[in-house]
Amino acid sequence: MENILYYFSGTGNSLAAAQTIAQEMGETRLVSMVHENTEDLADDSTIERIGFVFPVYYGAVPPIVRSFIENLKLPENIYIFGVITKGGLAGSVQDELAEIINAAGGKLSYAWTVRMPGNYIAMYPALPDIVQQKLLSSAERKAETIGEKAKLKLIDQNIKADSPPRKSLLQKQPGYLTFAKDYRVHSRCTGCQICAKICPTKNITMVVGKPHFASNCQHCMACIQWCPMGAITYKERTANRARYRHPEIKSEELFR
Ligand SMILES: Cc1cc2nc3c(=O)[nH]c(=O)nc-3n(C[C@H](O)[C@H](O)[C@H](O)COP(=O)(O)O)c2cc1C
Repeated sequence: MENILYYFSGTGNSLAAAQTIAQEMGETRLVSMVHENTEDLADDSTIERIGFVFPVYYGAVPPIVRSFIENLKLPENIYIFGVITKGGLAGSVQDELAEIINAAGGKLSYAWTVRMPGNYIAMYPALPDIVQQKLLSSAERKAETIGEKAKLKLIDQNIKADSPPRKSLLQKQPGYLTFAKDYRVHSRCTGCQICAKICPTKNITMVVGKPHFASNCQHCMACIQWCPMGAITYKERTANRARYRHPEIKSEELFR
């Protein structure tokens, strides 16, 4: 028997949480949600627990995570849990996740949120190092506890999947996936391609040695945050803002 932990992560927070949870649970396969997956898990008797770990965006489930789960066939009677990393407030993302999982044939048993440093550089800069360190060490402890509780298959009786459907991110922000038109590339770009390799939707291609942005951007901030030259900006407003990436995660771990 094994566990599967599906994750999506722009700057490493959710991957770091997923790694800790996997270690606590043992026998866990970590699978990135950036690759399409139409796995039929409904009759797979080798799986004991399924988890989804991802960041909250605008109080909602990121579109890439939503469509990934919608394409799965989930088993009815297996323990399924969610872990949502957040910079502040997660809104009703747990209820939305319960509905998506329900529609894919499963049942969400528990959903935890984990506060971590906010990464939305289009809105705010990275927090000071000392604040980041405090948040990261309490997040690490929380992830360990989640791993223990998921191992025990803790159930939250208050989770409802039959409330009126929550608005998805694309309903809340109809132009969300076209935010990419506002990226700019500074002349100090060296053409190293980290942005193209890390972009979860292959939205960045190299044109004459420089990144070019198409129109399927998840706004995960990975390209801005991981650029070693600080050469990618969003509407110029991010130009002088401190970058953030989880200190324990390497860019290669997030490459497609
Ligand atoms: C587009 C976007 C929207 C966000 N919206 C929220 C939000 O509504 N509430 C919140 O607490 N954090 C929000 N955040 C912060 C992230 O959820 C948080 O930093 C998360 O841990 C990042 O995870 P990652 O490093 O795995 O990508 C947002 C971040 C981005 C990029």
